[in-house]
Amino acid sequence: MISHVTHLVSRFFGSIFAKPLTAKEQQVLNSELTSPLLELFDRLSVADQRHLYNVSRGISAEVQSMDLDSSEAYGLVVAGLFHDCGKVVSDFGTIMRVIATLYWGLLPKKLASMLSKSVGGLGVRMQQYRDHPRIGSELLIEADAPQIAATWAKEHHKPADAWTIETKYGELLKRYDDD
Ligand SMILES: [Fe+2]
Ligand SMILES: [Fe+2]
Repeated sequence: MISHVTHLVSRFFGSIFAKPLTAKEQQVLNSELTSPLLELFDRLSVADQRHLYNVSRGISAEVQSMDLDSSEAYGLVVAGLFHDCGKVVSDFGTIMRVIATLYWGLLPKKLASMLSKSVGGLGVRMQQYRDHPRIGSELLIEADAPQIAATWAKEHHKPADAWTIETKYGELLKRYDDD
């Protein structure tokens, strides 16, 4: 429990003080991504862009030492870069994300779902925040992303035994995602 709270606190401050991508980092993405994916990345908050960029660079470095064909390697980098893109729809800032995480984490599921359906727009956004895996997957399909990226967006909060992507890829993607 203490390590979970410590992790939440460090995520909170990491998010508050997130640095925007530098021109050089943006250039890396411009050279790697298709226009629909660049447009999707552009819609994300600074904190999400920073988190996702850092995750993708760790993966990018590691896939270079693996024996993968270029489309497989690209799919893994895109999967890391967009796994949380579904959060764009709920559009919560850092404080509301902490509240939503506690809300869904602490309240019994049925009660939390029922309450969120009875409080109008905010409740809809709470649901959307919780549904960010499914929403992200749909956004990635619309943007014609590699299949593994759309699948990983949907599966990145699931336990390993529920993944449909290869376990070695799921483990790689998890290793660089600290949340
Ligand atoms: Fe997520
Ligand atoms: Fe993440």
